[in-house]
Amino acid sequence: MKIIAHRGASADAPENTLAAMELALEQDADAIELDVHCVEGELVVIHDRYLDHTTSGQGLVHNMTLAQLATLDAGGGQRVPTLWQVMQCVAGRCDINIELKGLGTADPLLPLLARAEQSLGFNPEQWLISSFHHPMLAQVKQARPELKIGTLFAGCPLRYAEVASELNAHSVHLSANFLDAELLADSRRRGTKIYVYTVDRPDEVAEMIELGVDGIFTNYPARTRALCHSQRL
Ligand code: G3P
Ligand code: MG
Repeated sequence: MKIIAHRGASADAPENTLAAMELALEQDADAIELDVHCVEGELVVIHDRYLDHTTSGQGLVHNMTLAQLATLDAGGGQRVPTLWQVMQCVAGRCDINIELKGLGTADPLLPLLARAEQSLGFNPEQWLISSFHHPMLAQVKQARPELKIGTLFAGCPLRYAEVASELNAHSVHLSANFLDAELLADSRRRGTKIYVYTVDRPDEVAEMIELGVDGIFTNYPARTRALCHSQRL
């Protein structure tokens, strides 16, 4: 079972910052998950459309300039990193699940992936591109059919099989609240992996291991890794 650090190791470091990504590596995560928006044509790593929740700034992320963004505190003196900065920091040492959160993020993603593959030692297998916005995933898949696509669902994953099939998706990502053994078995028959978010409670981690999910998004990679080891996974 893959352990994916949700917004980095975000229980112990400010979410979606370089510190959270470095800590996720130290905590032995298989992959990091991060959220991206677009600022001046560049992808930046932040969850919300608005700055208020996680930074010292206010207003819409996409109304900022990169220079303005670089002055904000994203927690503990950390900055809002660009995706390129995270790629440089990770430099091929773990997989990256890039969640396309902001509209218009598929366009700048494609050249960035190519650049990271050419100059930072990433293998295309290491990318997992996900989004609740399925048309952006279709755009990525059309441009790079070999890339792994994760179809995200909020709430009950209606038509998950059709959507995953249309996008030739690697995985379906859903809230743990909506997972059951039937969905898991059906998806396994179809050859699609199931990743669940956001699983932090140790008893819920154990439940997901028992169900046999392919991966979990967690804010606690180290604690989750220890639980998996104790269950010999
Ligand atoms: O990608 C899994 C999870 O991150 C999706 O929800 O809101 O945390 O980005 P959110
Ligand atoms: Mg996310």
